[in-house]
Amino acid sequence: MSAGFVSVAYVVASILFILSLGGLSHQESARRGNFFGIAGIIIALVATIASVSMGAGGIASIVIAILIGASAGMFLANRVEMTQMPQLVALLHSFVGLAAVFVGFAGYLDPLVTTHGAEHTIKLVEVFLGVFIGSITFTGSLIACGKLDARISSAALTLPGRHIMNLGALGFTVLLGAWFLGADSVTEGMFPLIVMTVVAGVLGVHLILAIGGADMPVVVSMLNSYSGWAAASIGFMLGNDLLIVTGALVGSSGAILSYIMCRAMNRSFMSVILGGFGQTTSGPAAVVDSDLTVQESSIDDVCEELSNSDAVIIVPGYGMAVAQAQTAVGEITKLLRDRGITVRFGIHPVAGRLPGHMNVLLAEAKVPYDIVLEMDEINDDFPSTDVVLVIGANDTVNPAAMDDPNSPIAGMPVLEVWKARQVVVLKRGMASGYAGVENPLFFKENTRMLFGDAKETVDKLLGGLRSA
Ligand code: TAP
Repeated sequence: MSAGFVSVAYVVASILFILSLGGLSHQESARRGNFFGIAGIIIALVATIASVSMGAGGIASIVIAILIGASAGMFLANRVEMTQMPQLVALLHSFVGLAAVFVGFAGYLDPLVTTHGAEHTIKLVEVFLGVFIGSITFTGSLIACGKLDARISSAALTLPGRHIMNLGALGFTVLLGAWFLGADSVTEGMFPLIVMTVVAGVLGVHLILAIGGADMPVVVSMLNSYSGWAAASIGFMLGNDLLIVTGALVGSSGAILSYIMCRAMNRSFMSVILGGFGQTTSGPAAVVDSDLTVQESSIDDVCEELSNSDAVIIVPGYGMAVAQAQTAVGEITKLLRDRGITVRFGIHPVAGRLPGHMNVLLAEAKVPYDIVLEMDEINDDFPSTDVVLVIGANDTVNPAAMDDPNSPIAGMPVLEVWKARQVVVLKRGMASGYAGVENPLFFKENTRMLFGDAKETVDKLLGGLRSA
């Protein structure tokens, strides 16, 4: 394929990727956004393969690589549960990081690419940066995957002097970079490059291990951003404009999402990048008084309260996803609305385990988009609400975030459900949420607990409401 055609194909693919991002920003257009993304990738792949002159052996090896990658991707995507999506995303980011490391080494060793003077120095900087970011992304994403999958403790590892260690590793990397740039031959440059890869890998492990479980959502999107920048630096190294554009899109959108999530959790963006996020509190969180008791409710009582309400807000959380209760929740919503009761949903930006987790589940259950509201849109409406149904949510409705400055989640904006006339919490027992902190909401005067698996409880509520 001529260079002109390839350039046109790359421009078309870039436009499709931008349209895809635009589409994915709204539920109504997300499907179209996905389609644009798929079309862009196909055009980009075909143009890239057609632009390289290679023999039958080269084509065969590319086809085999695509077949292996596509089969592994389809196998994983078919098997993975909705609740395991974040782990899968983190694992996929690690592949991007590893690819950046391999391409960096390959670009450095490639005898066909001979550059001189300033061009040579720029190429070496691109190799070094690409491998550095790639290695951090690779190991950091593997640790994030392990934490999300509960294979590694979600507690933050806070080694003494860890910031000094991180800075030391960065300083050492700069020295290795100077050595690498000054190397007279590829053989001499390999040593600092390999040492830097190992140092960056250890840095990636340490940075992510130092981040507590409650802050993992931001980490996943930060790693998404890192993987984009790694891809962009590969693009510079290979002189591939499409990879530069795509990498920059992923890198900047991941960074923007991280920033938005930081704001939603009242965290500082810089402390996430530097690791040790979530460790800003000084003392232990206040423990709920052991004399306090919770008040239990029953299916019949909750059905009656719901039937007698004018305004109901449902606050779903991770437990609804685990129990797969969304379809039954959708049916209850429809039934109550048919009886003239105003039902809306309050969605916390980090409810569940991935951005937009609740929105995806509610869309699957065919809940109308216009009654699914963001935290900021609905938080002022709780005082005028009769009943709030909290279904498997915990950290995102914890008043300690506002009342207890020592709480690990202090300062995180939460859904102020306790301001409603009546709060009903559906969960299996008194276990804490992801952040591992107690929740004083359960002991409030106007809170009733409805214990049991969320799916079973919602099914019973549905049965009770139908026969009422
Ligand atoms: P969580 O605070 O994690 O609480 C979920 C609650 O659901 C648990 O307390 C659990 O209590 C209950 N539960 C579990 N399985 C259940 C079942 N089958 N039926 C009924 N209840 C069940 O949930 P949340 O309020 O959605 O908060 C999300 C947390 O995850 C935040 O701390 C957030 O920072 C973190 N996080 C978020 C993300 C993103 S991007 N959204 C990613 C990673 C981490 P029982 O065991 O007593 O039932």
